[in-house]
Amino acid sequence: SKNIVVAIDGYSSCGKSTLAKALAKKLHFIYVDSGAMYRAVALYFLRNNIDVTNHDQIAEALKNINLNFHSRDYQTHITLNGEEVSEEIRLMPVSDKVSEVSAIREVRKEMVKQQQRMGHSKNIVMDGRDIGTTVFPDADVKIFMTADPKVRAERRYKEIKDKNPEITLEEVFENIAHRDYQDTTREESPLVRADDAIILDNTNLTPQDQLDFALDRVKPLI
Ligand code: C5P
Repeated sequence: SKNIVVAIDGYSSCGKSTLAKALAKKLHFIYVDSGAMYRAVALYFLRNNIDVTNHDQIAEALKNINLNFHSRDYQTHITLNGEEVSEEIRLMPVSDKVSEVSAIREVRKEMVKQQQRMGHSKNIVMDGRDIGTTVFPDADVKIFMTADPKVRAERRYKEIKDKNPEITLEEVFENIAHRDYQDTTREESPLVRADDAIILDNTNLTPQDQLDFALDRVKPLI
């Protein structure tokens, strides 16, 4: 039988990866966090002072970037040229840079190519911004997630404050609002709900509610 592709898209910090991981774990599907790929590219750009307006530098950088996932325990373990960067890509310097880097056409083209390869003939759950629209327009199930921005900021703040002791809730809120704005207004595959995506507003839902919602849609296809 044909492989099953589940695409989970939506705004920043609305629990896409929590749902995607839980779903993949339950169904023994592969989980791919596409945002981690853009974050790792952003980290490379920061470290190497890549000028985002210089197309030669961008092309050269993309040639030199090698990303790999180790999906141990359905957590995101990503390496950048062999170095484990899973924690560093969650810190503020990368969060502040990533939307700028992910808006670059050449960057998206390369990431989409790698993502499509990962989903080829495998049961997969991938989360991101353009999975149901661009990466897998024929995905079997498409979920578009959203939640109240204040609730999103509070959740993300709780999650990252231990590793970012100097961070404030306001900064987290600003970063989320800024990324929403950049992600929805960019020219290259902006964040938009695919016509055939089901909306999941999880402002008042538990992780279990969300998993049940997704399982109801995926299980009949297995
Ligand atoms: O999912 P996460 O919030 O970690 O993604 C970080 C950033 O990567 C997003 O704000 C967005 O700019 C970019 N991204 C994207 N397309 C994807 C996944 C992430 O542009 N499929």
